Amino acid sequence: MRDLTEDNVTEAVLAKIDVTDNPRLKQILVSVITHLHAFARDVELTPDELFEAARFLTEVGKISDAKRHEFLLLSDTLGLTILVDAMQNRKPAAATESSVLGPFYRANAPEVENGDLIDRGDTGGDPTVVHGTVKDLDGTAIKGALLDIWQATQQGLYENIDAAQPDMNLRGRLRTDGNGEYKVRTVLPASYPIPDDGPAGQLLSLCNRHNMRPGHIHFIVSADGFKPVTTEVFVEGDDYLDSDAVFGVKESLVAAFVNSDSVEDAAKWGMPTPFHEMRFDFVLEPGEGDARPGFSAGSAGD
Ligand SMILES: [Fe+2]
Repeated sequence: MRDLTEDNVTEAVLAKIDVTDNPRLKQILVSVITHLHAFARDVELTPDELFEAARFLTEVGKISDAKRHEFLLLSDTLGLTILVDAMQNRKPAAATESSVLGPFYRANAPEVENGDLIDRGDTGGDPTVVHGTVKDLDGTAIKGALLDIWQATQQGLYENIDAAQPDMNLRGRLRTDGNGEYKVRTVLPASYPIPDDGPAGQLLSLCNRHNMRPGHIHFIVSADGFKPVTTEVFVEGDDYLDSDAVFGVKESLVAAFVNSDSVEDAAKWGMPTPFHEMRFDFVLEPGEGDARPGFSAGSAGD
């Protein structure tokens, strides 16, 4: 432990970790230390830069509270959240892919019936009907599957950060009918910015990156005997599909929100004209799991 040099200090620190009892903690610490030291060597980290990193992380902590999770926002914008999500959700090709939970999920959204309108705030967005079927890997419809749905207004605001909207606006939980089908009336989702008034936003700016997410609707779909999927369906044609600030877009999750003037179709869906129609079928794989994942990317909680 004396005469430590840049060549042997890593080995000396790892030897100290060797007596850690918790095997998973030990595995993580060994990897963190190995990679941290390798990173410092790789960039020849200077003392000033080390202090700057400490200052930055202090600011990340200072702006965080029960509703603002800046560390997770940082994780989102550095692609760590979607990487962890992908590793946790390796699926058969036919199953619906997962995506980030995002910071605006709230548990216990109102229970709604198929066909109900979830824009309870009359927010002036373009009327949109969202429908489809929940199926298993063989294509068999799953009746009674639960869909937990939430989205922002067409102005890009979730109700829990917008005092003008009623509580729980644009949120709802509904079950598929006897044919495994679901239907909800809502408004067209639009692209929106993630918070840029903290250190995560400053870092985006330093990297000449924008803070926008493409328009999307969030879903958690679950059913007895199946592994739940937390995912998002994105608006085809959105300007930010290829540069989502949190890397959540997957090609299989992009869907057309078709604009229709058809009076006949509008009547069929119980919609005014014109309206948008989005169809998305969810495919669940057999298994089990918590419908509300413990790893929540900055969840605003209840
Ligand atoms: Fe979102």
